[in-house]
Amino acid sequence: MTDERATSNPGRVDFSPLPALNPELSGRTVVVTGAGRGMGALFVEELARRGVNAVGGDLDGDAMAAVAEKINANLSGVPDAGRVVGIGADVTDPAAHDAMAAKALEEFGRLDMWVNNAGVFPQAEFTDISPDQLAMTYGVNLNGVVYGGQTAARHFRTVGGGVIVNMGSVAAVRARVTRATYNSSKAAVKHLTTCMSVELGPDNIRVNSIAPGFIDTEMTRWVQEDPVALDRALSTVPLRRLGAPIEVFSALYFLLSDSARYITGTNIPVDGGSQHV
Ligand SMILES: NC(=O)c1ccc[n+]([C@@H]2O[C@H](COP(=O)([O-])OP(=O)(O)OC[C@H]3O[C@@H](n4cnc5c(N)ncnc54)[C@H](O)[C@@H]3O)[C@@H](O)[C@H]2O)c1
Repeated sequence: MTDERATSNPGRVDFSPLPALNPELSGRTVVVTGAGRGMGALFVEELARRGVNAVGGDLDGDAMAAVAEKINANLSGVPDAGRVVGIGADVTDPAAHDAMAAKALEEFGRLDMWVNNAGVFPQAEFTDISPDQLAMTYGVNLNGVVYGGQTAARHFRTVGGGVIVNMGSVAAVRARVTRATYNSSKAAVKHLTTCMSVELGPDNIRVNSIAPGFIDTEMTRWVQEDPVALDRALSTVPLRRLGAPIEVFSALYFLLSDSARYITGTNIPVDGGSQHV
């Protein structure tokens, strides 16, 4: 869904497609939160392209429904493609997670994988962080991952196992002025992921996180549109370019697949090396 941006391409992003791997994923079902745009939208499209059925949930239910419709139209000529169903779902509400799981079972008869992707990226000087900003950021970025993980784990326990992937961030291991709320929420997601893996592992539920760096989405539009900010951002990326959502997808696809069946409790940075700078 992001290919149209290849023409502007401010950080020399590599949008080229990736080959299909892991045929065992075809026919399985995933829930992806925050799939109404950005990486979540690309995730459900690329999973469906590889035969996975998907329920995408987003706070913006109209955007989510439109994205699902567009993806299904895009993939109509792709043999054995999966189908995407979009619903409105606010990840701060535990009941919304149960509704996404119920939708997956109703539409596809199974639920195998869960991606806690929804996130918000607020900014404020430390002394200006408001109770609302704090509640909203932790509510989406952290509590939303707990609630999604609970719904997924309760179901996976009844079917012998499953896979959960949480979207963290390189921000988890970096300190940046005006980003205390976001960065601390993502640090919590990183450790939460490990805690979940220890507790859920005996039920054959794997839990990992991905830590993207600067990825070309609406969330980082402000960086891409300001040459000074872009230069400064790229100076902290050893590969000297922004990442493409498809490059985050490749780590997600691996973690969801049976190729990662002995990997749990870990975090994969997809950041061009920026966690080291
Ligand atoms: N873009 C980056 O550079 C980057 C870097 C590191 C981590 N991340 C993380 O990756 C994930 C996806 O980021 P993105 O760049 O695609 O962001 P994005 O802003 O493009 O998309 C986020 C989506 O989450 C949805 N959302 C927000 N609040 C929600 C809620 N309460 N319930 C349900 N959905 C909600 C939004 O409507 C939106 O569709 C986020 O967790 C983000 O923190 C992004």
